[in-house]
Amino acid sequence: MTLETPPATRTCRLCGGAVSEIFDFGRQPVSNAFVKAEEADGEAFHHLAVGICSSCSMVQLSDELPREAMFHDDYPYRSSESALMRRHFEEFAGNLVRTELTGPDPFVVEIGCNDGIMLKTISDHGVRHLGVDPSRGAAETAAAKGIDVRVDFFEESVAREIRQAHGRADVIFSANTFSHISYIDSIFRGIDELLAEDGLFVFEDRYLGDIVEKNYFDQIYDEHFYLFSLHSVRAMVERFGFELVDAQRLAVHGGAVRYSVARPVARKPGTALARLFAHERDLGLTDRVKLARFGVNIRRIRHDLVALLTELKAKGFRVAGYGATSKSATVLNYCGIGMDLVECVYDSTPEKQGRLTPGSHLPVVAPERFAADYPDYVVLFAWNHAEEILAKEQAFTAQGGRWILYVPDVHVL
Ligand code: SAM
Ligand code: TMP
Ligand code: ZN
Repeated sequence: MTLETPPATRTCRLCGGAVSEIFDFGRQPVSNAFVKAEEADGEAFHHLAVGICSSCSMVQLSDELPREAMFHDDYPYRSSESALMRRHFEEFAGNLVRTELTGPDPFVVEIGCNDGIMLKTISDHGVRHLGVDPSRGAAETAAAKGIDVRVDFFEESVAREIRQAHGRADVIFSANTFSHISYIDSIFRGIDELLAEDGLFVFEDRYLGDIVEKNYFDQIYDEHFYLFSLHSVRAMVERFGFELVDAQRLAVHGGAVRYSVARPVARKPGTALARLFAHERDLGLTDRVKLARFGVNIRRIRHDLVALLTELKAKGFRVAGYGATSKSATVLNYCGIGMDLVECVYDSTPEKQGRLTPGSHLPVVAPERFAADYPDYVVLFAWNHAEEILAKEQAFTAQGGRWILYVPDVHVL
């Protein structure tokens, strides 16, 4: 089955400017659609290509999936599988409580709260909050932690209802979700409805600068409709009448940026902005020709990874994967890697276990079964959790097991 998407108009989803292609990954499955073996024949595919707008410099996908094809009751991603990310959001939420939420009865809204990884700390502090997330399974996990959640896609009408029921929000937060929402105009109108006059809208997301510098091509998949830079984010927020007042680089997920957005002149812009703008000019993040050079590295990585796996197979070594990430959908399908080269993928998420990876059909297996049958090599698809996973799986390394990484280039640890 091929998902029905509107024809690729190659006009910017935000400003209507001309979008020129940077790279084409070809046919891809829905990145989080882990399939049951008996349903593997009915998978939906789409075309994955990425381009840049010559007008507002937003990097974006050419094809847009229906939001319900990605986010639904059974969406399997659970943010809290990572101890690093739990700490990251605990720290952020704790700071928020101390700095922004000091009024008499503050209210926080999170767009894309998933299993409550961030709002848990807000809730533990007794601060009024509401998470909005369409993925019922994840939202129910959050609710079981005592978090207030609305199972819905955040958009203008939802924002209005929230304001009517709860009043304006002092902080609206969103992590690794804003880039997933192509219909951003409705989101900004919603934020305008809901945010207090002196409120702050904070969102964090993967950073185009790190993606390009470190060849993190696997950050490009259906859910990441936009790949943000400071330049494109500034154009985006100003288009909707807001001001970018701060930006902070983060190490998580291979490199992200936390953007702070306010109503015009409500806040004094931070000094970090100028430095990061200069960095982007050096990198050429608004220059299609410079960005297109990224494609040379992507093709080289595909060649080197397939060559390495083919050689290992020919020599009789066994290879598995670790981390059935959304990112791995791009790697596996773009490189054409199936069970012939990688026998299975270990992953701690119960919702993914027992299923097959989308498109490539590798069985997803619980890490508890890893030690019983160590392969010789493991491709680390969850490279952003390398420290945590290598620490957990020390015994594999100690008995001679080797880890394969494919970014920023293919190498064996
Ligand atoms: N914030 C968490 C984090 O940083 O780990 C979760 C990120 S997860 C990759 C993206 C989440 O956004 C999913 O739980 C998805 O259901 C949710 N989402 C997608 N579109 C949304 C929308 N329009 N409104 C609210 N949540 C949305
Ligand atoms: P992410 O890179 O999108 O956060 O996804 C990480 C995936 O890796 C997710 O499916 C959970 C899995 N995982 C493990 O299997 N073991 C671990 O120790 C960690 C941190 C993640
Ligand atoms: Zn544009």
